[in-house]
Formats: sequence, C-alpha cells, structure tokens
Amino acid sequence: MLTSLLVKAEELTALVSELAEFRRTTPADDVTSALVNANVDGEALTPAEVASFFILLVVAGNDTARNTMSLGLHALTEYPDQRALWLADPKGSGPSAVEEMVRWCSPVVWMRRTVTRSTELAGTRLEEGEKVLIYYNSANRDEDVFANPYDFDVRRSPNPHVGFGAAGPHFCLGAPLARIEIGVMFRQLFERLPDIVSVGEPDRLRSTFINGVKHLTCAFTPTPLSR
Ligand code: HEM
Repeated sequence: MLTSLLVKAEELTALVSELAEFRRTTPADDVTSALVNANVDGEALTPAEVASFFILLVVAGNDTARNTMSLGLHALTEYPDQRALWLADPKGSGPSAVEEMVRWCSPVVWMRRTVTRSTELAGTRLEEGEKVLIYYNSANRDEDVFANPYDFDVRRSPNPHVGFGAAGPHFCLGAPLARIEIGVMFRQLFERLPDIVSVGEPDRLRSTFINGVKHLTCAFTPTPLSR
C-alpha cells in the first residue's frame, strides 16, 4: 500500500515536472504557467519547488474539503434541528453553515511554526528556534472566543474560526474555493437526496494531522435525480 502510494507520488511529480517544463516554453493562461514563470524580486521557483507546490495544491485542496463534507453530513445527521434550520433557509443560512462545518470539523488538526525571535505568548516565554504547534480544533472550541463552542450552530455569527489557518501570509489559499465547493455540494445533495443521513459512526483515518474519514455509511431514498 505504502509502496504504491510512493510510486503514485513519484509518477505525479514526473508528470508535473514535464508539464512545468512545457509551460516554461509555451505559457498559457493557467496555474502552471503562472507558477513556473513567476518572478518575485528575481527569484523563481525551482522545478522541485513547483512539483512540491503542485502536490500541496492537490492534497491540501482535496482531502480537506471532502472530509468537511463527510463530517458535515454526520454533524447534520446528529443535529437534525440544525439541518432543518439550514433547509428552511438555504440561501440565508448556507454561508454560515459552511463556516460552522469548517469550525466544527477542523479538517486540519494542527500546524507547526518555528519561533523566529524570542517573545512571550499568553504568558509563556518562547525562545528563538523553538517549535510551536497550533491545534485548530482546540482553538475552534475556545470558550473565550465562541459562545457555546460545543454547540453545532449553522447560524453562528460571528464565527472567527481558524479552520483555514489564522490570518497571515499562510492563510489557506483555497478557502474561497473550498467555501464554494462545500456549499454547492450540500445544495446539490439536498436537492437530489433530501433525506440522506449518515448511519453509525464515521470510519476515521488514523492520523494526528488530518481529521479524516475513510468511509461514511449513508442511507437515503433513491430519487430520479440521484441516478
Ligand atoms: C475545508 C477545506 C480546507 C481547509 C479546512 C483548509 C485548511 C488549511 C489550513 C489550516 C492551512 C494552513 C494555514 C497555515 O499554515 O497557517 C491551509 C493552507 C493551504 N491550503 Fe487549505 N484548506 C482547505 C481547502 C483548500 C483548497 C480547496 C485548496 C486549493 C485548491 C487549498 C490550498 C491550500 C494551500 C496552497 C495552502 C498553503 C498556503 C501557504 O502556506 O501559503 N486548501 N489550508
């Protein structure tokens, strides 16, 4: 399993490197061309950096959004009153429901930073070079920030969650896309399979880094639109 994963990662790297080389000489209006031809203060990405970034885009943008959808459906199943609120006002509650799903699920569990200069954070002394972890799921349930943080509330407002990372240069590049994807997915799902619910507990990924779901059994009444 691990071997085939590594082989696939190598194949993807080779594919991206080939595409990057092609777009270096034949640029078009696409992401690869923008990446390989970017020049910031005379600095450009090396072929290895382009390949890593491409894999980051594929992985960061895929697992996170789909895990939010699975865990989000599970949350809506566990809290049918919240599902009813959303369905009663899909346009009005849609955006806040998506934000609440990201807060509730916190698909990325943690991220690490290196302290660049000695400082103090919330009463703790931090020295240059030390490593610091932020646990997004913990920050997203901070009683000092959120009223009733353990309530799943599709109309929560304000909702200053950090599921996409804290504000700053590394804030999730794909957050606007993820918000659209999750909103469209649930709109379509409820239109096609209005009574869909999850059954039992999600089969979770064994990972400290990604709050992932391997399988989620669902039940629904088939409709002509679902075929
Ligand atoms: C619900 C879905 C998503 C969640 C919860 C999520 C979460 C995150 C988090 C926590 C970070 C780290 C921020 C930091 O280091 O401070 C991040 C970074 C990033 N995300 Fe997302 N993400 C999601 C969807 C996406 C999508 C759809 C894409 C692209 C198609 C994407 C691309 C990236 C990239 C490229 C970074 C690195 C940004 C940087 O370091 O400058 N993400 N995301």
